Amino acid sequence: MPEQRRIIFKHIDSPGYTNDIACYQQNGGYETLKAAVLRKPEELIEEVKKSGLRGRGGAGFSCGLKWSLLDRKSGKPIYLIVNADESEPGTFKDRYILHQDPHQLIEGMMITCFANNVKQAYIYIRGEFPEGARILEKALAEARKANFVGSNIVGTTYSCDIFVHRGAGAYICGEETGLIESIEGKRPYPRIKPPFFPAVLGLYQCPTIVNNVETLCHVKHIAAMGGEAYSKIGTPGNTGTRILCVSGHVKRPGYYEFEVGKLTLGELLNDVCGGPLPGRTFKAVIPGGSSAKILRFGERFKGKRKVGAEMQDYDWGLDDVPMDFDSLAMIGSMAGSGGVIVMDDSVSMVEALANINAFYAHESCGQCTPCREGSLWMKRITNRMVLGGARPEDGALLKNVADQIAGRTICAFGEACSWPTQSFVLKFGEEFKTYAERTKDSSATLATTPLV
Ligand SMILES: Cc1cc2nc3c(=O)[nH]c(=O)nc-3n(C[C@H](O)[C@H](O)[C@H](O)COP(=O)(O)O)c2cc1C
Ligand code: SF4
Repeated sequence: MPEQRRIIFKHIDSPGYTNDIACYQQNGGYETLKAAVLRKPEELIEEVKKSGLRGRGGAGFSCGLKWSLLDRKSGKPIYLIVNADESEPGTFKDRYILHQDPHQLIEGMMITCFANNVKQAYIYIRGEFPEGARILEKALAEARKANFVGSNIVGTTYSCDIFVHRGAGAYICGEETGLIESIEGKRPYPRIKPPFFPAVLGLYQCPTIVNNVETLCHVKHIAAMGGEAYSKIGTPGNTGTRILCVSGHVKRPGYYEFEVGKLTLGELLNDVCGGPLPGRTFKAVIPGGSSAKILRFGERFKGKRKVGAEMQDYDWGLDDVPMDFDSLAMIGSMAGSGGVIVMDDSVSMVEALANINAFYAHESCGQCTPCREGSLWMKRITNRMVLGGARPEDGALLKNVADQIAGRTICAFGEACSWPTQSFVLKFGEEFKTYAERTKDSSATLATTPLV
Protein backbone atom coordinates (compact mmCIF):
# COMPACT_ATOMS: atom_id res chain seq x y z
CA MET A 1 0.00 0.00 0.00
CA PRO A 2 1.40 3.48 -0.84
CA GLU A 3 2.47 5.39 2.26
CA GLN A 4 0.94 8.78 2.96
CA ARG A 5 3.39 11.64 2.54
CA ARG A 6 2.32 14.30 4.96
CA ILE A 7 3.67 17.75 4.15
CA ILE A 8 0.66 19.95 4.84
CA PHE A 9 -0.55 17.54 7.52
CA LYS A 10 2.94 16.93 8.93
CA HIS A 11 2.01 18.09 12.41
CA ILE A 12 -1.77 18.04 12.25
CA ASP A 13 -3.13 15.21 14.43
CA SER A 14 0.25 14.66 16.18
CA PRO A 15 -0.23 14.22 19.93
CA GLY A 16 0.03 17.56 21.73
CA TYR A 17 -0.02 19.68 18.54
CA THR A 18 -2.21 22.75 19.03
CA ASN A 19 -3.14 25.64 16.77
CA ASP A 20 -1.43 28.36 18.82
CA ILE A 21 1.65 30.24 17.71
CA ALA A 22 3.93 28.87 20.44
CA CYS A 23 3.35 25.30 19.28
CA TYR A 24 3.76 26.32 15.63
CA GLN A 25 7.09 28.00 16.36
CA GLN A 26 8.34 25.09 18.48
CA ASN A 27 7.89 22.99 15.33
CA GLY A 28 9.89 25.36 13.12
CA GLY A 29 7.01 27.67 12.22
CA TYR A 30 7.76 31.11 10.70
CA GLU A 31 11.45 30.24 10.11
CA THR A 32 10.72 30.00 6.37
CA LEU A 33 9.12 33.46 6.38
CA LYS A 34 12.12 34.92 8.24
CA ALA A 35 14.43 33.50 5.55
CA ALA A 36 12.11 34.42 2.66
CA VAL A 37 12.01 38.15 3.45
CA LEU A 38 15.80 38.26 3.10
CA ARG A 39 15.55 36.99 -0.48
CA LYS A 40 14.60 38.82 -3.66
CA PRO A 41 10.84 38.57 -4.33
CA GLU A 42 11.50 37.44 -7.94
CA GLU A 43 13.48 34.46 -6.64
CA LEU A 44 10.49 33.28 -4.64
CA ILE A 45 8.21 33.57 -7.66
CA GLU A 46 10.78 31.57 -9.63
CA GLU A 47 10.78 28.83 -6.95
CA VAL A 48 7.00 28.54 -7.21
CA LYS A 49 7.20 28.35 -11.01
CA LYS A 50 9.88 25.66 -10.83
CA SER A 51 7.85 23.67 -8.31
CA GLY A 52 5.08 23.02 -10.84
CA LEU A 53 2.49 23.69 -8.10
CA ARG A 54 -1.08 23.53 -9.41
CA GLY A 55 -4.02 25.09 -7.59
CA ARG A 56 -5.86 22.86 -5.13
CA GLY A 57 -9.15 24.81 -5.29
CA GLY A 58 -10.67 23.14 -8.35
CA ALA A 59 -9.23 23.94 -11.75
CA GLY A 60 -5.63 22.81 -11.10
CA PHE A 61 -4.25 25.97 -12.74
CA SER A 62 -0.48 26.59 -12.45
CA CYS A 63 0.20 28.78 -9.41
CA GLY A 64 3.45 30.24 -10.79
CA LEU A 65 1.76 31.11 -14.09
CA LYS A 66 -1.15 32.78 -12.25
CA TRP A 67 1.28 34.97 -10.33
CA SER A 68 3.22 35.85 -13.48
CA LEU A 69 0.02 37.08 -15.17
CA LEU A 70 -0.41 39.85 -12.55
CA ASP A 71 -0.46 43.33 -14.03
CA ARG A 72 2.54 44.71 -12.12
CA LYS A 73 2.91 47.81 -14.27
CA SER A 74 -0.48 49.37 -13.55
CA GLY A 75 0.80 51.27 -10.51
CA LYS A 76 -2.25 50.04 -8.57
CA PRO A 77 -1.97 48.06 -5.34
CA ILE A 78 -1.85 44.28 -5.69
CA TYR A 79 -4.12 42.21 -3.45
CA LEU A 80 -4.04 38.60 -2.31
CA ILE A 81 -7.25 36.77 -1.47
CA VAL A 82 -7.31 33.32 0.06
CA ASN A 83 -10.32 31.35 -1.04
CA ALA A 84 -11.55 29.62 2.13
CA ASP A 85 -15.13 29.34 0.91
CA GLU A 86 -14.90 25.54 0.61
CA SER A 87 -18.51 24.95 -0.42
CA GLU A 88 -18.10 22.16 -2.97
CA PRO A 89 -20.03 19.18 -1.56
CA GLY A 90 -17.66 16.39 -0.58
CA THR A 91 -14.77 18.75 0.21
CA PHE A 92 -13.63 19.37 3.76
CA LYS A 93 -9.85 19.77 3.74
CA ASP A 94 -9.49 23.56 4.04
CA ARG A 95 -11.61 23.65 7.17
CA TYR A 96 -9.30 21.13 8.81
CA ILE A 97 -6.21 23.18 7.97
CA LEU A 98 -7.86 26.36 9.29
CA HIS A 99 -8.89 24.67 12.52
CA GLN A 100 -5.75 22.69 13.21
CA ASP A 101 -2.90 24.72 11.70
CA PRO A 102 -3.95 28.31 10.85
CA HIS A 103 -0.38 29.63 11.15
CA GLN A 104 0.73 27.39 8.29
CA LEU A 105 -1.70 29.26 6.04
CA ILE A 106 -0.67 32.67 7.44
CA GLU A 107 3.01 31.89 6.82
CA GLY A 108 2.26 30.74 3.24
CA MET A 109 0.23 33.91 2.70
CA MET A 110 2.93 36.23 4.00
CA ILE A 111 5.55 34.61 1.76
CA THR A 112 3.16 34.98 -1.19
CA CYS A 113 2.50 38.62 -0.28
CA PHE A 114 6.20 39.42 0.01
CA ALA A 115 6.96 37.69 -3.31
CA ASN A 116 4.23 39.66 -5.10
CA ASN A 117 4.54 43.00 -3.32
CA VAL A 118 1.12 42.70 -1.70
CA LYS A 119 0.41 45.08 1.20
CA GLN A 120 -3.12 43.97 2.00
CA ALA A 121 -4.49 40.44 1.94
CA TYR A 122 -7.84 38.85 2.74
CA ILE A 123 -9.01 35.46 3.86
CA TYR A 124 -12.53 34.94 2.52
CA ILE A 125 -14.11 32.32 4.77
CA ARG A 126 -17.57 30.89 4.26
CA GLY A 127 -20.28 32.00 6.65
CA GLU A 128 -20.85 28.44 7.87
CA PHE A 129 -17.33 28.34 9.38
CA PRO A 130 -17.76 30.56 12.47
CA GLU A 131 -15.29 28.47 14.45
CA GLY A 132 -12.72 28.71 11.63
CA ALA A 133 -13.15 32.50 11.53
CA ARG A 134 -12.65 32.74 15.29
CA ILE A 135 -9.51 30.59 15.14
CA LEU A 136 -8.12 32.67 12.27
CA GLU A 137 -8.72 35.97 14.10
CA LYS A 138 -6.93 34.60 17.15
CA ALA A 139 -4.03 33.31 15.03
CA LEU A 140 -3.75 36.65 13.21
CA ALA A 141 -3.65 38.53 16.52
CA GLU A 142 -0.83 36.22 17.66
CA ALA A 143 1.05 36.66 14.37
CA ARG A 144 0.69 40.46 14.54
CA LYS A 145 1.98 40.51 18.11
CA ALA A 146 4.98 38.39 17.09
CA ASN A 147 5.60 40.77 14.15
CA PHE A 148 5.01 38.18 11.41
CA VAL A 149 2.02 40.17 10.11
CA GLY A 150 1.61 43.96 10.10
CA SER A 151 4.16 46.77 10.00
CA ASN A 152 7.85 46.14 9.33
CA ILE A 153 7.61 42.41 9.59
CA VAL A 154 10.53 40.65 11.28
CA GLY A 155 12.46 43.91 11.39
CA THR A 156 12.38 44.62 7.65
CA THR A 157 10.88 47.58 5.80
CA TYR A 158 8.15 45.29 4.44
CA SER A 159 4.62 45.76 5.84
CA CYS A 160 1.48 43.78 5.06
CA ASP A 161 -1.75 43.13 6.92
CA ILE A 162 -4.28 40.32 6.60
CA PHE A 163 -8.04 40.61 7.17
CA VAL A 164 -10.64 37.91 7.64
CA HIS A 165 -13.80 38.46 5.60
CA ARG A 166 -16.77 36.25 6.43
CA GLY A 167 -19.20 35.20 3.71
CA ALA A 168 -22.92 34.84 4.30
CA GLY A 169 -23.36 31.26 3.07
CA ALA A 170 -23.48 31.13 -0.72
CA TYR A 171 -21.64 28.54 -2.85
CA ILE A 172 -21.13 31.03 -5.65
CA CYS A 173 -18.86 33.10 -3.39
CA GLY A 174 -16.26 30.37 -4.02
CA GLU A 175 -16.09 31.46 -7.66
CA GLU A 176 -13.25 33.94 -7.61
CA THR A 177 -14.98 36.93 -9.20
CA GLY A 178 -18.18 36.37 -7.19
CA LEU A 179 -15.95 36.29 -4.13
CA ILE A 180 -14.35 39.60 -5.12
CA GLU A 181 -17.77 41.21 -5.56
CA SER A 182 -18.72 39.92 -2.12
CA ILE A 183 -15.65 41.47 -0.47
CA GLU A 184 -16.56 44.75 -2.19
CA GLY A 185 -19.88 44.57 -0.37
CA LYS A 186 -22.05 43.63 -3.33
CA ARG A 187 -24.15 40.61 -4.32
CA PRO A 188 -21.70 37.90 -5.41
CA TYR A 189 -22.52 38.02 -9.11
CA PRO A 190 -19.56 36.52 -11.00
CA ARG A 191 -17.95 38.90 -13.47
CA ILE A 192 -17.46 38.33 -17.17
CA LYS A 193 -13.97 37.17 -18.21
CA PRO A 194 -12.59 38.89 -20.23
CA PRO A 195 -12.11 41.61 -19.18
CA PHE A 196 -12.39 40.89 -15.45
CA PHE A 197 -9.52 38.48 -14.96
CA PRO A 198 -8.50 39.00 -11.32
CA ALA A 199 -4.82 39.24 -12.28
CA VAL A 200 -5.64 42.47 -14.12
CA LEU A 201 -9.00 43.77 -12.87
CA GLY A 202 -9.66 42.09 -9.54
CA LEU A 203 -10.53 43.52 -6.13
CA TYR A 204 -11.42 47.24 -6.46
CA GLN A 205 -10.36 46.87 -10.14
CA CYS A 206 -6.77 46.21 -9.02
CA PRO A 207 -4.53 43.23 -9.85
CA THR A 208 -5.44 40.40 -7.48
CA ILE A 209 -4.25 36.87 -6.76
CA VAL A 210 -6.93 34.40 -5.67
CA ASN A 211 -5.60 31.11 -4.36
CA ASN A 212 -7.03 28.25 -2.36
CA VAL A 213 -6.06 27.60 1.30
CA GLU A 214 -4.19 24.37 0.56
CA THR A 215 -2.37 25.94 -2.42
CA LEU A 216 -0.91 28.69 -0.23
CA CYS A 217 0.16 26.21 2.44
CA HIS A 218 2.22 24.48 -0.26
CA VAL A 219 3.94 27.81 -1.02
CA LYS A 220 5.46 27.79 2.45
CA HIS A 221 6.99 24.36 1.84
CA ILE A 222 8.20 25.32 -1.64
CA ALA A 223 9.98 28.35 -0.16
CA ALA A 224 11.52 26.08 2.49
CA MET A 225 12.74 23.21 0.29
CA GLY A 226 13.12 25.01 -3.07
CA GLY A 227 11.06 24.63 -6.22
CA GLU A 228 13.37 22.02 -7.72
CA ALA A 229 13.11 19.68 -4.73
CA TYR A 230 9.32 20.14 -4.56
CA SER A 231 8.96 19.33 -8.26
CA LYS A 232 10.41 15.88 -7.58
CA ILE A 233 7.55 15.05 -5.23
CA GLY A 234 4.55 13.57 -7.00
CA THR A 235 4.74 12.93 -10.73
CA PRO A 236 5.81 15.13 -13.68
CA GLY A 237 3.16 17.77 -14.37
CA ASN A 238 1.32 16.73 -11.19
CA THR A 239 3.78 17.70 -8.50
CA GLY A 240 3.65 17.79 -4.72
CA THR A 241 1.18 16.21 -2.38
CA ARG A 242 -2.53 16.76 -2.12
CA ILE A 243 -5.17 16.14 0.46
CA LEU A 244 -7.93 13.77 -0.56
CA CYS A 245 -11.15 13.92 1.46
CA VAL A 246 -12.95 10.62 1.12
CA SER A 247 -16.62 10.37 2.08
CA GLY A 248 -19.44 7.91 1.51
CA HIS A 249 -19.47 4.14 1.39
CA VAL A 250 -16.00 3.04 2.47
CA LYS A 251 -14.93 1.55 5.77
CA ARG A 252 -12.48 4.34 6.63
CA PRO A 253 -13.56 7.71 5.22
CA GLY A 254 -11.41 10.71 6.12
CA TYR A 255 -8.47 12.92 5.11
CA TYR A 256 -5.41 11.47 3.44
CA GLU A 257 -2.36 13.23 2.02
CA PHE A 258 -0.51 11.53 -0.83
CA GLU A 259 2.03 12.42 -3.48
CA VAL A 260 -0.03 13.39 -6.51
CA GLY A 261 -0.36 10.51 -8.98
CA LYS A 262 1.53 8.04 -6.79
CA LEU A 263 -1.55 6.07 -5.83
CA THR A 264 -4.44 4.76 -7.86
CA LEU A 265 -8.13 5.14 -7.14
CA GLY A 266 -8.29 1.41 -6.32
CA GLU A 267 -5.45 1.71 -3.79
CA LEU A 268 -7.12 4.71 -2.21
CA LEU A 269 -10.53 3.08 -1.84
CA ASN A 270 -9.51 -0.49 -1.06
CA ASP A 271 -6.18 -0.32 0.77
CA VAL A 272 -6.28 3.10 2.39
CA CYS A 273 -10.03 3.41 3.03
CA GLY A 274 -10.64 -0.28 3.79
CA GLY A 275 -12.87 -1.15 0.82
CA PRO A 276 -16.67 -1.25 0.62
CA LEU A 277 -18.98 -1.72 3.60
CA PRO A 278 -19.78 -5.36 4.53
CA GLY A 279 -21.87 -7.13 1.90
CA ARG A 280 -21.63 -4.23 -0.56
CA THR A 281 -19.77 -3.51 -3.79
CA PHE A 282 -18.62 -0.20 -5.20
CA LYS A 283 -20.93 1.25 -7.81
CA ALA A 284 -19.67 4.74 -8.63
CA VAL A 285 -17.31 7.46 -7.53
CA ILE A 286 -17.15 11.22 -7.95
CA PRO A 287 -13.43 11.96 -7.72
CA GLY A 288 -13.21 15.74 -7.22
CA GLY A 289 -16.24 17.24 -5.49
CA SER A 290 -19.89 17.06 -6.56
CA SER A 291 -19.42 18.99 -9.81
CA ALA A 292 -16.88 16.47 -11.16
CA LYS A 293 -18.31 13.94 -13.60
CA ILE A 294 -19.26 10.63 -12.01
CA LEU A 295 -17.32 7.44 -12.86
CA ARG A 296 -18.78 3.95 -12.93
CA PHE A 297 -17.05 0.83 -11.65
CA GLY A 298 -16.65 -1.70 -14.44
CA GLU A 299 -15.79 0.97 -17.04
CA ARG A 300 -12.56 0.66 -19.02
CA PHE A 301 -10.54 3.55 -20.35
CA LYS A 302 -8.13 3.21 -23.25
CA GLY A 303 -5.93 5.68 -25.08
CA LYS A 304 -2.48 7.17 -25.30
CA ARG A 305 -0.84 9.38 -22.72
CA LYS A 306 2.40 11.25 -22.34
CA VAL A 307 4.75 9.75 -19.76
CA GLY A 308 7.90 11.89 -19.51
CA ALA A 309 8.93 12.46 -23.12
CA GLU A 310 7.18 9.34 -24.47
CA MET A 311 3.64 8.53 -25.57
CA GLN A 312 2.35 5.33 -23.96
CA ASP A 313 -0.81 3.27 -24.40
CA TYR A 314 -3.04 2.92 -21.37
CA ASP A 315 -5.85 0.45 -20.72
CA TRP A 316 -7.30 1.06 -17.26
CA GLY A 317 -10.15 -0.18 -15.16
CA LEU A 318 -11.37 2.44 -12.69
CA ASP A 319 -9.18 0.91 -9.96
CA ASP A 320 -6.04 1.52 -12.07
CA VAL A 321 -6.53 5.25 -12.60
CA PRO A 322 -3.80 7.37 -10.95
CA MET A 323 -5.22 10.06 -8.68
CA ASP A 324 -3.79 13.07 -10.48
CA PHE A 325 -5.08 16.07 -12.42
CA ASP A 326 -4.21 14.80 -15.91
CA SER A 327 -5.28 11.16 -15.55
CA LEU A 328 -8.68 12.04 -14.12
CA ALA A 329 -9.19 14.61 -16.89
CA MET A 330 -8.16 11.99 -19.50
CA ILE A 331 -10.91 9.63 -18.36
CA GLY A 332 -13.51 12.39 -18.55
CA SER A 333 -13.71 13.66 -14.98
CA MET A 334 -11.48 15.89 -12.83
CA ALA A 335 -9.38 16.00 -9.68
CA GLY A 336 -11.24 19.20 -8.74
CA SER A 337 -11.20 20.04 -5.07
CA GLY A 338 -10.02 16.60 -3.87
CA GLY A 339 -13.43 15.54 -2.52
CA VAL A 340 -13.83 11.83 -3.34
CA ILE A 341 -17.48 10.73 -2.94
CA VAL A 342 -17.99 6.96 -2.99
CA MET A 343 -21.32 5.23 -3.69
CA ASP A 344 -22.02 1.54 -3.30
CA ASP A 345 -24.71 -0.68 -4.82
CA SER A 346 -27.30 0.51 -2.28
CA VAL A 347 -27.47 3.93 -3.96
CA SER A 348 -30.13 4.91 -6.48
CA MET A 349 -28.47 7.10 -9.09
CA VAL A 350 -31.70 8.99 -9.69
CA GLU A 351 -31.97 9.85 -6.01
CA ALA A 352 -28.28 10.78 -5.77
CA LEU A 353 -28.66 13.10 -8.75
CA ALA A 354 -31.84 14.60 -7.28
CA ASN A 355 -29.82 15.51 -4.21
CA ILE A 356 -27.05 17.15 -6.27
CA ASN A 357 -29.54 18.97 -8.51
CA ALA A 358 -31.35 20.41 -5.47
CA PHE A 359 -28.04 21.84 -4.29
CA TYR A 360 -27.13 23.49 -7.60
CA ALA A 361 -30.61 24.90 -8.22
CA HIS A 362 -30.46 26.50 -4.77
CA GLU A 363 -26.99 27.97 -5.35
CA SER A 364 -27.29 29.44 -8.87
CA CYS A 365 -26.83 33.22 -8.55
CA GLY A 366 -29.49 33.73 -11.23
CA GLN A 367 -27.61 36.08 -13.54
CA CYS A 368 -27.64 33.82 -16.62
CA THR A 369 -30.89 32.39 -17.96
CA PRO A 370 -29.53 28.94 -18.95
CA CYS A 371 -28.12 28.38 -15.46
CA ARG A 372 -30.95 29.94 -13.47
CA GLU A 373 -33.71 28.17 -15.39
CA GLY A 374 -31.83 25.02 -16.35
CA SER A 375 -30.63 24.16 -12.85
CA LEU A 376 -34.19 24.60 -11.58
CA TRP A 377 -35.66 22.43 -14.33
CA MET A 378 -33.13 19.67 -13.70
CA LYS A 379 -34.06 19.75 -10.03
CA ARG A 380 -37.77 19.67 -10.78
CA ILE A 381 -37.40 16.70 -13.13
CA THR A 382 -35.31 14.62 -10.72
CA ASN A 383 -37.62 15.60 -7.86
CA ARG A 384 -40.63 14.50 -9.86
CA MET A 385 -38.92 11.20 -10.58
CA VAL A 386 -38.15 10.63 -6.92
CA LEU A 387 -41.67 11.57 -5.91
CA GLY A 388 -43.08 8.84 -8.15
CA GLY A 389 -43.69 10.60 -11.46
CA ALA A 390 -40.74 9.19 -13.44
CA ARG A 391 -41.04 8.58 -17.17
CA PRO A 392 -38.72 6.46 -19.34
CA GLU A 393 -37.74 9.52 -21.38
CA ASP A 394 -36.65 11.58 -18.35
CA GLY A 395 -32.96 10.68 -18.77
CA ALA A 396 -33.00 12.10 -22.29
CA LEU A 397 -34.95 15.14 -21.13
CA LEU A 398 -32.46 15.81 -18.34
CA LYS A 399 -29.55 15.52 -20.76
CA ASN A 400 -31.27 17.89 -23.17
CA VAL A 401 -31.60 20.55 -20.46
CA ALA A 402 -28.02 20.05 -19.20
CA ASP A 403 -26.57 20.27 -22.72
CA GLN A 404 -28.04 23.74 -23.07
CA ILE A 405 -26.34 25.13 -19.95
CA ALA A 406 -22.65 24.22 -20.14
CA GLY A 407 -20.62 26.67 -22.23
CA ARG A 408 -23.40 29.29 -22.31
CA THR A 409 -22.92 31.05 -19.00
CA ILE A 410 -20.88 33.79 -17.37
CA CYS A 411 -19.08 31.51 -14.93
CA ALA A 412 -18.11 27.86 -14.60
CA PHE A 413 -21.09 27.18 -12.34
CA GLY A 414 -22.86 26.41 -15.62
CA GLU A 415 -20.52 23.44 -16.11
CA ALA A 416 -20.57 22.57 -12.40
CA CYS A 417 -24.36 22.15 -12.42
CA SER A 418 -24.68 20.38 -15.77
CA TRP A 419 -21.77 17.91 -15.58
CA PRO A 420 -23.41 15.79 -12.85
CA THR A 421 -26.63 15.39 -14.87
CA GLN A 422 -24.78 14.73 -18.14
CA SER A 423 -22.51 12.11 -16.60
CA PHE A 424 -25.13 10.38 -14.42
CA VAL A 425 -27.39 9.92 -17.45
CA LEU A 426 -24.51 8.85 -19.69
CA LYS A 427 -23.16 6.29 -17.22
CA PHE A 428 -26.41 5.05 -15.67
CA GLY A 429 -28.93 5.68 -18.45
CA GLU A 430 -30.66 2.29 -17.96
CA GLU A 431 -31.31 3.11 -14.29
CA PHE A 432 -33.06 6.34 -15.29
CA LYS A 433 -35.28 4.27 -17.62
CA THR A 434 -36.10 1.52 -15.14
CA TYR A 435 -36.75 4.01 -12.35
CA ALA A 436 -39.92 4.85 -14.26
CA GLU A 437 -40.98 1.18 -14.20
CA ARG A 438 -40.75 1.10 -10.42
CA THR A 439 -42.90 4.16 -10.00
CA LYS A 440 -45.36 3.96 -12.89
CA ASP A 441 -48.45 3.93 -10.67
CA SER A 442 -47.71 7.28 -9.16
CA SER A 443 -49.68 10.38 -10.00
CA ALA A 444 -46.85 12.84 -9.28
CA THR A 445 -46.28 15.39 -12.04
CA LEU A 446 -44.14 18.46 -12.44
CA ALA A 447 -47.13 20.51 -11.35
CA THR A 448 -47.27 18.69 -8.01
CA THR A 449 -43.51 18.82 -7.45
CA PRO A 450 -42.44 21.47 -4.96
CA LEU A 451 -40.44 24.30 -6.51
CA VAL A 452 -37.95 24.63 -3.70
C1 LIG B 1 -18.98 27.72 -8.80
C2 LIG B 1 -17.56 27.69 -8.33
C3 LIG B 1 -17.28 27.49 -6.98
C4 LIG B 1 -15.96 27.48 -6.53
N1 LIG B 1 -15.73 27.27 -5.20
C5 LIG B 1 -14.45 27.28 -4.76
C6 LIG B 1 -14.16 27.12 -3.37
O1 LIG B 1 -15.07 26.94 -2.53
N2 LIG B 1 -12.87 27.12 -2.98
C7 LIG B 1 -11.83 27.33 -3.87
O2 LIG B 1 -10.68 27.37 -3.48
N3 LIG B 1 -12.07 27.49 -5.19
C8 LIG B 1 -13.34 27.48 -5.64
N4 LIG B 1 -13.59 27.70 -6.97
C9 LIG B 1 -12.44 27.99 -7.86
C10 LIG B 1 -12.06 29.48 -7.76
O3 LIG B 1 -12.84 30.21 -8.70
C11 LIG B 1 -10.58 29.73 -8.07
O4 LIG B 1 -10.28 29.16 -9.31
C12 LIG B 1 -9.66 29.14 -7.02
O5 LIG B 1 -9.94 29.66 -5.75
C13 LIG B 1 -8.23 29.46 -7.38
O6 LIG B 1 -7.36 28.91 -6.43
P1 LIG B 1 -6.25 27.84 -6.82
O7 LIG B 1 -5.64 28.28 -8.13
O8 LIG B 1 -5.30 27.91 -5.71
O9 LIG B 1 -6.94 26.53 -6.97
C14 LIG B 1 -14.90 27.68 -7.46
C15 LIG B 1 -15.18 27.87 -8.81
C16 LIG B 1 -16.50 27.86 -9.25
C17 LIG B 1 -16.77 28.06 -10.70
S1 SF4 C 1 -23.42 30.51 -14.50
FE1 SF4 C 1 -25.00 30.48 -12.90
S2 SF4 C 1 -23.88 31.00 -11.06
FE2 SF4 C 1 -22.54 31.62 -12.78
S3 SF4 C 1 -23.07 33.76 -13.19
FE3 SF4 C 1 -24.43 32.53 -14.46
S4 SF4 C 1 -26.30 32.27 -13.22
FE4 SF4 C 1 -24.68 32.92 -11.85
